[in-house]
Amino acid sequence: MTITDRDPDDISTNPTHGHAFADVVQRRSTRRTVLAAGGMTAAAAFLTMPGTATASGHGHRGRAARLLGFAPIPLGFSDEVVVPQGYTARPFIPWGTPITGSYPAFVPGANTGAEQEQQVGMHHDGMHYFPRSRGPVGNQRGLIAVNHEFTDEGYLHTGTPTVPPRTAWTADMVRKSQASHGVSVVAVQEDSPGAWTVERSRLNRRITANTPMSFSGPAAGHRLVSTTADPAGRSPIGTFNNCSHGVTPWGTYLTCEENFNGYFRVDPGAYTAEQVGLTARYGVGGDRNNWAIHDPRFVVTPGNPNEPNRCGWVVEIDPFDPLSRPVKRTALGRIKHESAYVHVGRGGRVVVYTGDDQVNEYVYKFVGDHNWKSSRARGRSPLDEGTLYVARFNDDGTGDWLPLVQGTGPLTVADGYADQGEVLVKTRLAASAVGATRMDRPEWVAVDPHTEMVYLTLTNNTARTEVDNAANPRVPNVWGHIVRWREDDDDHTGTGFTWDLFIIAGQGRTSGDGSTIAAEDGFGSPDGIWSDPDGRVWIQTDGTQPLGANDQMLAANPYVTDAAGAPELRRFLTGVPGCEMTAMVTTPDQRTMFVNVQHPGENAAPSQWPHLDGISTPRSATVVITKDDGGVIGT
Ligand code: FEO
Ligand code: CA
Ligand code: CA
Ligand code: CA
Repeated sequence: MTITDRDPDDISTNPTHGHAFADVVQRRSTRRTVLAAGGMTAAAAFLTMPGTATASGHGHRGRAARLLGFAPIPLGFSDEVVVPQGYTARPFIPWGTPITGSYPAFVPGANTGAEQEQQVGMHHDGMHYFPRSRGPVGNQRGLIAVNHEFTDEGYLHTGTPTVPPRTAWTADMVRKSQASHGVSVVAVQEDSPGAWTVERSRLNRRITANTPMSFSGPAAGHRLVSTTADPAGRSPIGTFNNCSHGVTPWGTYLTCEENFNGYFRVDPGAYTAEQVGLTARYGVGGDRNNWAIHDPRFVVTPGNPNEPNRCGWVVEIDPFDPLSRPVKRTALGRIKHESAYVHVGRGGRVVVYTGDDQVNEYVYKFVGDHNWKSSRARGRSPLDEGTLYVARFNDDGTGDWLPLVQGTGPLTVADGYADQGEVLVKTRLAASAVGATRMDRPEWVAVDPHTEMVYLTLTNNTARTEVDNAANPRVPNVWGHIVRWREDDDDHTGTGFTWDLFIIAGQGRTSGDGSTIAAEDGFGSPDGIWSDPDGRVWIQTDGTQPLGANDQMLAANPYVTDAAGAPELRRFLTGVPGCEMTAMVTTPDQRTMFVNVQHPGENAAPSQWPHLDGISTPRSATVVITKDDGGVIGT
């Protein structure tokens, strides 16, 4: 984060405690052996559990042993993206790339708001590649949908790390900042192996903090999302702080609203207790980008307090229909959504896993009521009708999905939950009420297509002062960890699971920091995670790395463990100063991978990446990775 001195995600706004420390110590004693071994004893057992759909079930066993074929690279410190020998990485669609309208050229610090609305936004995050045709052509021609999470207001307005003074802020600076957020949809094609270009397509689109949208689901039209400008509470404007993403089986893109809270200014006044409670729990306030100076939508007042309640949702976008109106799907809850991983569960019901990335917040899943195809055949969205659950990780290695349903448990009218819309606007409060487990900043979720194992990155929690649950066992948790679970009977629509710790990150198991991996594979702050079609688990970092190295990307083979029980792990990519790594996806043939380098040069770190067109201003960009022999990425 560039605006604040301290990452606000490191400050908890969750006052509730799941259970007393003494109780945990008692219950943890049965699991001490497992945790002492970093959870690997039980983790290894997962893959051989009776009834487990192991890799062998898909004729996958032979290949599973040699999923990773590249030579790992060392930690990176340079201003170049480094990939293994035999691979090539090329920057693509950096911030400012013209994609629509009059295709205005990028000029660092000098483009207007109107020009930025026609260019790729800043700070690339979640991303998907949608093939534009079936068969082999789809590997060379597609749509990239990419989130632009936040901005560096210095590079944005001056091309340098220097942020102009607040007193000099203009309305067009606000417009430009708002246009740098949101989502880009870009038609792309591969002209020659590894060389991709932007097509001048009618499908190219910018979605920004000012794009008209709709609400759907139980909170649509609710009093808590109505405003002076939209009394009906059905027509929100824009999306911003779009972190990671999801992809539906019907071919739409989900973009997740994460740290929306900091963009508002909260004016003093006489607020209701309900408003005070929501503001506190979601941490609303700060006007981090100075939008409130020129845009009254970002000013919260006692008479018009609900605009922040219109943020923190998952937004569905049809990338193939540039005229379609994005829809905020309220049934998926209102949190600081990191990602929205969609898995088709039993009976064709969609299951959406989503984490709330703040210290001591929770992990959720939405389970659709109906087969998604039959819902769509009836003209209904599979994301509008279903149940939202929050996870409780029990100290005995089991877990429970607790329903957030109005009228059940503590979610009654008397407790402040008049209807399901209210439960959803107040998702965090409802989740605390039912006894969810406080986690170390839940980031991305991935599901292994072969074993149905679910992976969740917990990036770190330097503010943790006590162990209140076994799933987050480090105090403080400087380096982060990755938890994984199996749904009971591999039924993702169910309410029970069995969990363990996949990796405890850090400088290596000989370093004394509690990590479970080999020193040569050291990493910290896991964030992005993706299980590719072969089952390789790709891991990206955002934060402190061993020896102060640049952020990085590794690949794990979860089917092969070393003598100490850690999965086979190889470092695949190293980023540039100041950046974090975000998003990873391949073309269907797995021979082109797209990843993002976000905020190179943050906090004035010495970077001029991607070194394109003689421009020295560092720019977030996608990286296209190919294997020089045309092979599958990771082999
Ligand atoms: Fe947007 Fe939690 O990273
Ligand atoms: Ca992230
Ligand atoms: Ca992060
Ligand atoms: Ca290794």
